[in-house]
Amino acid sequence: MAAAPALTAVKDFAAAGEFEKKHTPFISVASEGDATMVTVEVGHEVPHPNGPDHYITFIELFAGMTPIARLDLSPEVTSPKVTLPCALPAGTVLRAVEHCNLHGWWTYETTL
Ligand SMILES: [Fe+2]
Repeated sequence: MAAAPALTAVKDFAAAGEFEKKHTPFISVASEGDATMVTVEVGHEVPHPNGPDHYITFIELFAGMTPIARLDLSPEVTSPKVTLPCALPAGTVLRAVEHCNLHGWWTYETTL
């Protein structure tokens, strides 16, 4: 039986190595009027490859355990970064998940 696919959680981005930084779906948050603008970027500080043989296939965003957005990506023509206006209460745990076609699933979270 094959091993279950791994989901790597990066807890401390600043302390992460280059390979981890390259794959972390880094979350940043900004206020814009009544909206909370949530940006998820794979390759924050250390760019991830974006060619047909090695690329990020999707980014998902969760509020707690509830999926709230998903972005499917194509290599070369899209970059693994998305900004979404969200209406979420303070204290919400935002979780981002991304998938690299070679290196599996990665997750990162922050609290509003
Ligand atoms: Fe990768």
